[in-house]
Amino acid sequence: MNSQSIPIAVINPDAPASSLEAKQAPIDNGHAVYGKEGYFSHDYAQQEWDNVWSRSWLLAGANTDIPNVGDYFLFKLRHESFIIIRSDTGITAFYNVCPHRGARLLTQERGNRRVFTCPFHSWSFANDGALRSITDEATFQPEVIDHRPGLTQVRCEVFAGLIFITMDNDAPELISDIGLPDGYLENYRIEDMKVVRHVRSEWGSNWKVGVEAFYESYHLHAVHPETRGVMADLHVQYDLYPRGASRMIVPLGEPSPRHHDQLTVNEGLQMMLREVGIDADTFQGTAADVRRAMQAAKRERSARLGLDYERFTDGQLSDSWATGIFPNVQIGCHPEAVFLMRFIPHDTDPERFWYDTMTLMRPVDDPNYCPPGWMGLPEGTDVSGQSRPETETYLINEDPGLGLVLSQDAAFLPSVQEGMRSKAFKGQLWGEQEQRLRHFHVELERRLFNK
Ligand code: FES
Ligand SMILES: [Fe+2]
Repeated sequence: MNSQSIPIAVINPDAPASSLEAKQAPIDNGHAVYGKEGYFSHDYAQQEWDNVWSRSWLLAGANTDIPNVGDYFLFKLRHESFIIIRSDTGITAFYNVCPHRGARLLTQERGNRRVFTCPFHSWSFANDGALRSITDEATFQPEVIDHRPGLTQVRCEVFAGLIFITMDNDAPELISDIGLPDGYLENYRIEDMKVVRHVRSEWGSNWKVGVEAFYESYHLHAVHPETRGVMADLHVQYDLYPRGASRMIVPLGEPSPRHHDQLTVNEGLQMMLREVGIDADTFQGTAADVRRAMQAAKRERSARLGLDYERFTDGQLSDSWATGIFPNVQIGCHPEAVFLMRFIPHDTDPERFWYDTMTLMRPVDDPNYCPPGWMGLPEGTDVSGQSRPETETYLINEDPGLGLVLSQDAAFLPSVQEGMRSKAFKGQLWGEQEQRLRHFHVELERRLFNK
């Protein structure tokens, strides 16, 4: 069967082809069933390390996290740790390792340094990586230190307010590797947003099981039945872009076609109305009117507060544009806030990963301005952007406190990981609601095996 004849939604059939909202031309990724070894095997994880993690551009963090010269944060990936710092010459990245005997220079996740002093023997380095001083230098044979060893730099680029690094000096320019159309991410002005929550939690599955669960809305009705009243899971538009990038547009404020009641403004819809400043008790419409009402309220709020929402389509005001960048990023894009997710492989165990999420919010001086409820921001969170919160870390089996939907995923995915181990399981059978998964795996294999 031709995949074009399979019913998959288009959010706005009238969107001009040049619009970021337009349905993209399909990409034929075939219909092969991929093997399952990649979810358990240490050899496969090593191959991913060598050919994907060591050679791809990786999202390290947000540039508003290091506003002042000397501000830094650490980005950890398996046994590597990187210092991302705003030096006198701009944002720069180094391996967090001392050239003397290999000690970690920094262990505190965030801070400000003009100079790095190694905690082992106190060699010091400028924040551009140059060697400043060697303790008791006269006790070294000159040949050992003649090359004046400094810190090893890592390629680092900023795009749309986000900082990426790559360990590969031969990797293509970041901009050509992202895969998304011009303006797509830039439109959200993430460079003006501040991290208001950062949660890192350990999950009991391979990192790809995490990516896959967040790349489709097919499981919503089953794993997250509460979403049926507020998310139109069968009206999701899936789009594939070059270099493994993809997105899905999930309409919010609209009941799922699977939901038994298409009229009542249920509790979830009432919450969404309140989020945009509409009095849910006196709201005149039915469930079918909520999404449009949310959009209109946001247009009105934008005009009142000078938010310049003219740059967004109506759909962008209400819906979640869940956007994937290869290999391990998904960004839930909304005008008020973006939710950055990174699926980070575990240091040693291919059957675990770190789910690292940051909520970045536009600081707006209005008490009713808030990110969408699905981001699970706890009541009372400081969204002023005045102070950068500490990263909350949760080990496996601890509830990451990310709200009901994400907790349901955290609890569910280990059973998928274990089930895939069964002799009976032969590989995943993806439908077209899961086309982003196939697209991700095609790109993964291309990079893994230099296809
Ligand atoms: S390992 Fe850094 S000074 Fe010795
Ligand atoms: Fe989920």
